[in-house]
Order: sequence, then structure tokens, then C-alpha cells
Amino acid sequence: MTEQELKRLRTEFPILSTRVGREHLAYFDNAATTQKPRVVIDALTNYYRKHNANVHRAAHYLAAEATQAYEAARRRVADWLNVEAREIVWTRGTTEAINLVAQTFLAPKLCAGDRILLLVSNHHANILPWQQIAKTKGAQLDVVGLTETGDLDLHQYTEQLKQRPKMVALTHVSNALGTIYPIAELVTQAKEAGAYVLVDGAQAVAHFDVDVKAMNADFYTFSGHKTFGPTGIGVLFGRYELLEAMPPWQTGGEMIEHVSFAEAVYAAPPLRFEAGTPNISGAIALDAALQYLQQRDRTALEAHEQRLIRRAEAALQELPGLHLLPAGSQRVALLSCTFEQFQVADVAAYLDSRGVAVRAGHHCAQPLLQALNIDASLRISFAFYNTEQEVDSLVSAVKELLLQPYRSSQDDLETLVTQVYEAADWPSRFSSLMRLAAGLPPVATDLRAPEWEVFGCATRTWMRIERDTSGKIHLQTDAQSRLMQGLLYLIAHQVNGKQVEQINVEQVEDRLIELGFASQLSQTRGNAIRHLLSHLRSLIAG
Ligand SMILES: Cc1ncc(COP(=O)(O)O)c(C=O)c1O
Repeated sequence: MTEQELKRLRTEFPILSTRVGREHLAYFDNAATTQKPRVVIDALTNYYRKHNANVHRAAHYLAAEATQAYEAARRRVADWLNVEAREIVWTRGTTEAINLVAQTFLAPKLCAGDRILLLVSNHHANILPWQQIAKTKGAQLDVVGLTETGDLDLHQYTEQLKQRPKMVALTHVSNALGTIYPIAELVTQAKEAGAYVLVDGAQAVAHFDVDVKAMNADFYTFSGHKTFGPTGIGVLFGRYELLEAMPPWQTGGEMIEHVSFAEAVYAAPPLRFEAGTPNISGAIALDAALQYLQQRDRTALEAHEQRLIRRAEAALQELPGLHLLPAGSQRVALLSCTFEQFQVADVAAYLDSRGVAVRAGHHCAQPLLQALNIDASLRISFAFYNTEQEVDSLVSAVKELLLQPYRSSQDDLETLVTQVYEAADWPSRFSSLMRLAAGLPPVATDLRAPEWEVFGCATRTWMRIERDTSGKIHLQTDAQSRLMQGLLYLIAHQVNGKQVEQINVEQVEDRLIELGFASQLSQTRGNAIRHLLSHLRSLIAG
């Protein structure tokens, strides 16, 4: 893709060319959700402007039009995946689709002692529905791990298949590492072992075309919003003979042939699984998203994404104290990393202050992170509309953060606090906070004890309040995140040495808000501060 072509393509995504509160936005959180092209937004509004009616039931022109568009969307998804339209069930997303299969397809077949085989890198959405039914039925979950390079441990997979699992629930592409698993080979082996196979394609279809028929999976699923379509719509493909043998998922309107008080005859799939008024506009807008993708050279788009990730990787791996997580031999444009000196949430907050949006956390893949011995990673996920300049902004912001001399400050604590209050803008305030955190004296070793932990915060946090003999407050705080350490010290700094009656927690909060923390910190961090302040209120009251 030439620079000119990319420029034009970016204009097709309104959010990329409109100011979004800040002047620049480099959006690298595409694995969480993708941005939407104008055609998708237009399809949504056009539907409500021109075609809105309920589908399948009303006998009038508008309803016929809506039904036609809704069913045409189903046919497009089917063509796109190379399956039949009657095998496409609309869901709210991947999560609902997997729950549907677990509860409606597998649960009735599952017996005590049966096994379900999962990948360690499955998203929680592809773990918990199986875990839940396994618990109620006395079945067992088995897990296939990764090799050191991040590839799936194929030897272990083969061994686990010898246990003859009833269901194998695979992930096409890992949402935390970006690894593309050799899905055709995995499905073939699982089927040879006599298992049913579900493939979670949530992170695959946004990057490359998928031929579900050739893959031969029993179920395949993805979410509209991760594929440039709207939220609230997703797709479950199920092999028709399996769908046909399944009981309904939810019951209600739209999914019946005939109802009396004594009994009901349910419609054939896929309508059997679509009780109630469906997400009509969502399906139609997803159709627009797929049409958008079909009109483009996806190989060229993918090649562009791969160039971006190589550029980012080459620059990031040079940085001291930054560790890239292994992502196997084949991967989509997504990378995850950790830092020796920084909590990933702090890095994400800093990048955000620089107009770079990334994700920090466990990415709903906690068992994977446990296996990798980490609790969080920073995830940078690309889409074809990202640019080399955006990659460079990302890299230089990370560099800026890592290479700042946080530890060399000679200033005393009072000066460091003043620097936070007097910083001219959020990025410099962020840096002064990090310097303040680095300059704090060591906290009491017994502070990180369960009785002092404050739950409900994004990072682990501890708070202890004591009164000396003259009744003065002494608040000690600690946190895993350096940014939070600095912020908590600002709170302690405002209350320590005062009598309880002299403390006004609202004023403490207002002071923090004035500094811009409420607007600059992510919602979870903002909530954490509010939570800590209410904890402080109760400590003071107690
Ligand atoms: C691999 C994978 N599976 C499932 C999901 C859940 O998708 P949704 O929240 O759209 O249902 C996600 C979302 O992050 C994902 O990345």
C-alpha cells in the first residue's frame, strides 16, 4: 500500500480524521475493538432513517425490506466464511456464541468423567463457559500449553487428544500474544480423535480471510466489533446437522413454528437460536463492514500491518528493560511486552498522555499470563489503518518514558511534591509523579499485609492509618504501580500530621481533580482513586 493509498484509506474512518478530544490519536487497541469505516456508520444510520421495521413477521413493504437486508447480511457472512447461510446464527458476539454452544450443544451430551480440551491461551470467553458446564456435570478440563517460543506445544496436544476429549475448544489467534495457531492441522487431529471442535476466530477475521469449510471445524465464531463492524452483533457458524439436532438456546418470539399452552414446535436453525427481535441494524452494518473488506486487497492490508509490527518490534527490542513476549512462528500484527522498572498500567497511562492508545492488563487471558509468570502485559495491536508515523510516535513515547532519569533526582520530597503540583501539563506532571515515587522513602515492610490491602483498585494497593499520642494522623500507603505510589503519597502528604477534625477528604479529592487526574487517568484508575478516598474516609471515621 502506498502512502497515498493509506492516506485515502484513513479518510474512510471518520474517527481517525476527527479530533477525539486530543490532537493526535494513535490507536493501537484494535484487538479490543476496531474503528469503523464510514460505510458501516452510514449503514447503521441509513437503516434507522430509511428501512427500520421488525424482521420476519410484519406483512408490509418496510418489514420486507428490513428482512431482506437482514437475511442478505447472513448470506454475506456465510459466503465470506465459505459455509451455508442456514449455518449462520446471529449472536451478540463471540462470548454469547461460545456460551450457546457450551450450554445447548455440549452440556446435554456431557457426562461425568468426560474431558474438554482447551488451549492455555484461550480468552476467558473460551474457558469459562466450558468450566461452568464441566463443574455441573463432573467433567474435566485439560489444557495444552505453549513452547518457549510461544508456539503451541503440539506434542502435548497430540498426547492430550489420546484422552479422547468430547470437545476441543481452540483459539485461531491469541488475543494476548497474537500467535496464529495451525488451525487446520489442529482441527484435523481433533476430529480424528473423535472430538467436536469449536474455533474462536475473534482475533483472526480482522486480519485475514478464513475458509471455515476447508478448516472443517464444527463451530466457528467471531464478533462484529473486532471486524470493523458494530458492537452487539456476532456470528456463530455451526455445522447444519449439529444445529438441527440442538434444542433452542433461549425461547420466545421469532424462533417457533407453532405454540400452544401445551407445547411448542421450534423453527429450524438458524432462527431456532434467535429468540426475540434480533440486532437487525447490527447485522446490516456488519454486512457493510464485510463488503468493505471484500472490496479491498486484504493481502496488501495484511502485508502493511506486518510491516508496521516489524518496525515496532525492531525499535522496541532495542530498549533496555523492555521484554517482548514470545509470539510463536506466525502471528498477526499484535505484540505484548513487559517492563523491568514499570508497571504496564503506568506505561499505558504515559502513552495515553502522549496520544497513544494501547491496552494494559491481563487481556481476559489470566491463565495464559499465569503460565508465563506475569500478571499483566502491555498489548499493542495494529490495524491496516495504522501508519509508520504512529509506530514512531509510540516508540518515541516508550523511549521517553524508559530513558528518563527517574532515580537521579537530588530533590527532597517537598520539592518533588511541589514539582507535581506545578507541572505545566499532564505529561510533565506524570514524569514528576514518577520522580516523586522514585524518591519516596522505603515503606514499612509489614504494610503489604492482607489487612491493609484495599480491594477494588486496578493495581494492588495498601493503606494504613494510625494516630500518634497527640491524635495526629499518620497515613502510610503503598502500591504496586509507581504512578499510584506517587498519587497515594500526594494524599498522605495532605492528611499527615493533621488532627482528624482538620481533614476534609472532599478537599483532598478536589485537589487531585484540579491536577487533572480525574480526566487524564483511565476510568479504572480514576475509580481506584475514588475508592481509596472513600476508604480513607472510613478509616478516619473509624
Ligand atoms: C480471542 C477472543 N475471544 C473472545 C473474545 C470475546 O469477544 P466479545 O467480547 O466480542 O464477545 C475476545 C475479545 O477480546 C477475544 O479476543
